[in-house]
Amino acid sequence: MKAAIYPGSFDPVTFGHLDIIKRSAKIFDELTVSVLDNKAKTPLFSVEERVKILEEVTKELPNVKVESFSGLLIDYAKEKGIRVSVRGLRAVTDFEYELQIAQTNRQLSGGDLDTVFLTTSLEYAYLSSSSVKEIASFHGDISQCVPEFVARLIYEKYGFEEV
Ligand code: PNS
Repeated sequence: MKAAIYPGSFDPVTFGHLDIIKRSAKIFDELTVSVLDNKAKTPLFSVEERVKILEEVTKELPNVKVESFSGLLIDYAKEKGIRVSVRGLRAVTDFEYELQIAQTNRQLSGGDLDTVFLTTSLEYAYLSSSSVKEIASFHGDISQCVPEFVARLIYEKYGFEEV
């Protein structure tokens, strides 16, 4: 069975992430979307909230499950017996950062964890969780960036009751 992990912050999940999830779920038999519990960052959504949101947006995908992890990705992957990490690449600006993480993980894991990159669909190439948060914080329109119920939750975090 081919299994993969799709790790990330997902704060919040965007249509760009969802596109990568759906496409990876067609390539791998089982995909675990894994939310990083990063104590060094102050996220908009707690890890529990992000897991719940991801569970909701992936509920129609039977071979996708959602978990959280802390610490090193290679340790978490080893624990699960998974040897592939999936990451999305939007533009060349992502490449340097992603290449470094992929090579570090491969080196640190002694070759046990490889990274598979999927290029983001063009319509989502401009999307990022940070820009979604910035737009929402000014009550801008994020309907093209995230599912409707996620947009509502984001606006709520910024104190806007009406979408
Ligand atoms: O969505 P993000 O924030 O770009 O995801 C980054 C993530 C979670 C993939 C990366 O930060 C990660 O795997 N962190 C876990 C810690 C780790 O393993 N670091 C070593 C690689 S440099």
